[in-house]
Amino acid sequence: MSLLYSRSTFVILVALLILFSCHHHRAISSRAHAAAALLDTTNAATDRLALLSFKSLLSDPSHALSSWNESTPFCRWQGIECGGRRHPDRVTALSLSSLNLAGAFPPSVANLTFLKRLDLSNNQLDGQVPVELGRLSRLQYLNLSHNSLRGSIPAALGRCSALETIALGYNQLEGEIPPDLANLSSLTYLNPSHNTLSGQIPLSLGNLTSLRLLDLTRTQLSGAIPSTLGRLSNLKFLYLTINNLSGTIPPSIWNISSLVHLLVGGNERLTGRIPQDVGETLPRLEALFMYQNQFYGPIPASLANATRLSDIEINTNFFSGTIPPEIGSLQLLQKLLLYKNSLEVKEPDDWGFFKALTNCTNLQYLLLHNNKLSGLLPTSISNLSVSIEVISLGSNSLSGSVPEGIGNLVNLNHFSIVNNTLTGSLPASIGMLQNSQILDFSYNNFTGEIPSTIGNLSRLWELYLYSNGFSGNIPKTLGNLRHLQQLDLSYNKLSGMIPEEVMAISSLSAGLVLSHNLLVGQIPSEVGNLKNLEMLDVQGNKLSGTIPSTLGECQVLQFLYAQMNSLQGSIPSSFRALKAMQELDLASNNLSGEIPSFFEDYSSLYFLNLSFNNFEGEVPKTGVFSNISAFSVQGNKKLCGGIKQLHLPPCNIKSPHNKHTFRTLIIVILVIVASVIISSILLLFFFFYSRCWPESARDPSTSLKDHLRISYSELVKATDGFSATNLIGTGSYGSVYKGVLEGEGEDSVKVVAVKVLNLQTPGSLKSFTAECEAMKNLRHRNLVRIITSCSSSDYNGNEFKALVFEFMPNGSLEDWLHHEASSQAESKHLSLLQRLNIAIDVASALDYLHCHSGTPIVHRDLKPNNVLLDDDMVAHVGDFGLARFRTAQKSASSIGFIDWIRSSRVWSGEQSLCTWRHLQFWDTSHGDDDRKKTHR
Ligand SMILES: *[C@@H]1O[C@H](CO)[C@@H](O)[C@H](O)[C@H]1NC(C)=O
Ligand SMILES: *[C@@H]1O[C@H](CO)[C@@H](O)[C@H](O)[C@H]1NC(C)=O
Ligand SMILES: *[C@@H]1O[C@H](CO)[C@@H](O)[C@H](O)[C@H]1NC(C)=O
Ligand SMILES: *[C@@H]1O[C@H](CO)[C@@H](O)[C@H](O)[C@H]1NC(C)=O
Ligand SMILES: *[C@@H]1O[C@H](CO)[C@@H](O)[C@H](O)[C@H]1NC(C)=O
Ligand SMILES: *[C@@H]1O[C@H](CO)[C@@H](O)[C@H](O)[C@H]1NC(C)=O
Repeated sequence: MSLLYSRSTFVILVALLILFSCHHHRAISSRAHAAAALLDTTNAATDRLALLSFKSLLSDPSHALSSWNESTPFCRWQGIECGGRRHPDRVTALSLSSLNLAGAFPPSVANLTFLKRLDLSNNQLDGQVPVELGRLSRLQYLNLSHNSLRGSIPAALGRCSALETIALGYNQLEGEIPPDLANLSSLTYLNPSHNTLSGQIPLSLGNLTSLRLLDLTRTQLSGAIPSTLGRLSNLKFLYLTINNLSGTIPPSIWNISSLVHLLVGGNERLTGRIPQDVGETLPRLEALFMYQNQFYGPIPASLANATRLSDIEINTNFFSGTIPPEIGSLQLLQKLLLYKNSLEVKEPDDWGFFKALTNCTNLQYLLLHNNKLSGLLPTSISNLSVSIEVISLGSNSLSGSVPEGIGNLVNLNHFSIVNNTLTGSLPASIGMLQNSQILDFSYNNFTGEIPSTIGNLSRLWELYLYSNGFSGNIPKTLGNLRHLQQLDLSYNKLSGMIPEEVMAISSLSAGLVLSHNLLVGQIPSEVGNLKNLEMLDVQGNKLSGTIPSTLGECQVLQFLYAQMNSLQGSIPSSFRALKAMQELDLASNNLSGEIPSFFEDYSSLYFLNLSFNNFEGEVPKTGVFSNISAFSVQGNKKLCGGIKQLHLPPCNIKSPHNKHTFRTLIIVILVIVASVIISSILLLFFFFYSRCWPESARDPSTSLKDHLRISYSELVKATDGFSATNLIGTGSYGSVYKGVLEGEGEDSVKVVAVKVLNLQTPGSLKSFTAECEAMKNLRHRNLVRIITSCSSSDYNGNEFKALVFEFMPNGSLEDWLHHEASSQAESKHLSLLQRLNIAIDVASALDYLHCHSGTPIVHRDLKPNNVLLDDDMVAHVGDFGLARFRTAQKSASSIGFIDWIRSSRVWSGEQSLCTWRHLQFWDTSHGDDDRKKTHR
């Protein structure tokens, strides 16, 4: 009734207004406003209807809107505020952030005509932003960021003349930025970042003179930066990072004296110089990001006049000349990223800046790699601020030696001086760098012994000393490095035996590389401790004796290089267990005996080199042996059989041999029968478990890769701005996106699953930490592998955490089991054999978790959802599933007994490691793939 009444009142009013002023457009609209206001006063119940309609159109899986019911007055519903002196019963604020609301954006919101604040951020709204919002003439705050909204930004928003904040970031909005927004004279915050907009930055934005923040990060805008932006005399934060902008930065922008952050990195075609007087025209500047562009010319000394500068990231450009020593007067400087430029040091005096930097007591990151700095490494390096965490000087032309005083830098976390011509021995004081996690001295001319004090660096993850002239024994103390994941001592002159202690570093995972030295003796049988190791490279030494059978315990080994030694005896039968092997090279030794037929069963093996040994007997024919280019057996005189292309003589079949085969056959049959029984039990267990306790607590347990931390911006790139098309699952703890990571090389493209934590959910941070800790040391072919993590802040400075897993193209077992009945019956069908294999895979993963992973781990949420299938239908146990993270409240506690909770900064998330990767440290040396290539 009341609705009808109000509607007819409105119609009559409008008709009257049109009669009174039929020519005057402006008058109509202002009177229509008045009419709308009149309507509002007549009917507060429209608010209630609008809210009910809003609720009815959205799906609310978390029951966040359960208080929105008939028995409660709507002003007391969750997220609603009513107010105003004259209209205490009208809705003024709708604050429904992070409530899992999904569905098309209900236009009925636009009927809440008294609305001042509308916050629907961080939900799963899709569809368009309703044009009707243009009616909200009182709206001041509009936040729709982190949804899946599509369509264009409505030009009608330009009519909400009270608007102060527009936040639309992280959606899939398209089209141009409507020039009409320039009418919003009160607008202070405009953020449509992380959308797939097109076109150019509208010139009219220069009229938004109240604007303090303009965030156009990652919006795909192109064209030039309009000089009209120079009129924004209150602008503090200008973010134009990662777009396709070209041309130069207009002089007017260099004159916005209010600027605090000027971020234009990652446009690739932006060019020009930094004005000489930059520090005088931008005296309030705190952050200057111009990385990955084509800027050139010198770094102006006047930067030092911007005394609050703390973050200078101008890496990966064509800057040249010397580095001005004035920079050293920036007391607040924390990050100085100048790497990948053409900056020079020719004369000793040019090092003045380095000495001056010792005055910057807050300096944390100093990255100068890939420049043209030559001459002696300044000894003043020892006097840099003790707060320094990262020093990277790789790929310059530095000579001299590492000073003893380096030990002063007790917070140094990452120190790389790779690819220079440093000489002398490493000072024993290296052992004082208690916080170091990554040390890289490779590709230099260091000599002498490896200091045994390195064994004191209990937090070390990676140690690279390869391609130097180190001599003497490998220090036994390295065995104390309980967190070491990668050790590379190759291409030196190290002699003596391989210490047992080194073979007992069970944390070693990415690689143990001792190749091309002068090592003698046997491979210690302790090698069986390396249960997490993926690559063992001892090629090109003088190792002798037999291959220890314990090597068969290194079950995740994928690359084994032992060629060019003097190993003898036969290949141990324990090698049967090395099923993850991809490349195996035992060439040029004195190995004998038969070629084991179990190599045929290594399903991942694509390179097998047994040449130049004394192997005898029959060459197998299937598996890797079926492809002539995948294996080599040349230089073994007593071999027979094999595939035709080998041109070996046929083998004489002897009867004892047959008997042997027969016995094996019986054993195989027995094993198969046993596994059928076990697996059926497991399958039953699965079935039962998933039916009865679908909500049981989840416990992350996935294997860890490592240390190649990744930046926020890389993840943004990989997932196409966390786009909804890449979304493969969501839940209260976060969302999982499919992403594509591109490495340096052309072929190093990797499909990954990115789990982005929703830090608003209580407990999610704890779960992230626990998950990292748990997975840090796990590694098994039947566990989903974690590739890396990211712990940083997003472009708006909000905390951001994500885990990157390998992507499982065949989805979860749940999909396969429970889609069978549906229409996709044919495409999704598991054969009995596949089921069996999956059961065995899961059982191996559990066995590993329970018995072989160091500290026993109980998964506690094993169900088909958490069993993921790779390309080859090999099962990997994971915790995140492509499904939702429904449960999880208890996950953090279930991890409590894992011994790994140590104070590693990276994993505890105190430190912005993303920033590290974003600095691209790694680009000088250690892509894993590069390494494998180097050492082959
Ligand atoms: C919103 O208001 C319009 C009239 O202005 C009316 O036609 C419509 O039914 C209202 N919608 C809701 C959901 O209240
Ligand atoms: C900016 O506003 C002025 C009036 O205030 C108007 O004349 C001009 O066209 C506007 N500029 C742009 C680029 O829209
Ligand atoms: C800029 O700094 C230099 C010293 O580095 C100083 O001589 C000059 O006066 C400063 N200019 C302004 C405008 O503060
Ligand atoms: C460090 O600062 C002091 C004054 O604060 C100055 O006297 C000294 O010259 C500076 N040192 C360097 C190396 O710039
Ligand atoms: C080593 O540094 C030189 C420049 O000094 C560079 O040209 C070369 O590519 C670098 N090598 C590696 C392996 O990074
Ligand atoms: C460093 O070692 C390389 C190769 O071993 C050699 O060519 C070069 O001359 C050495 N440089 C210095 C400065 O000793």
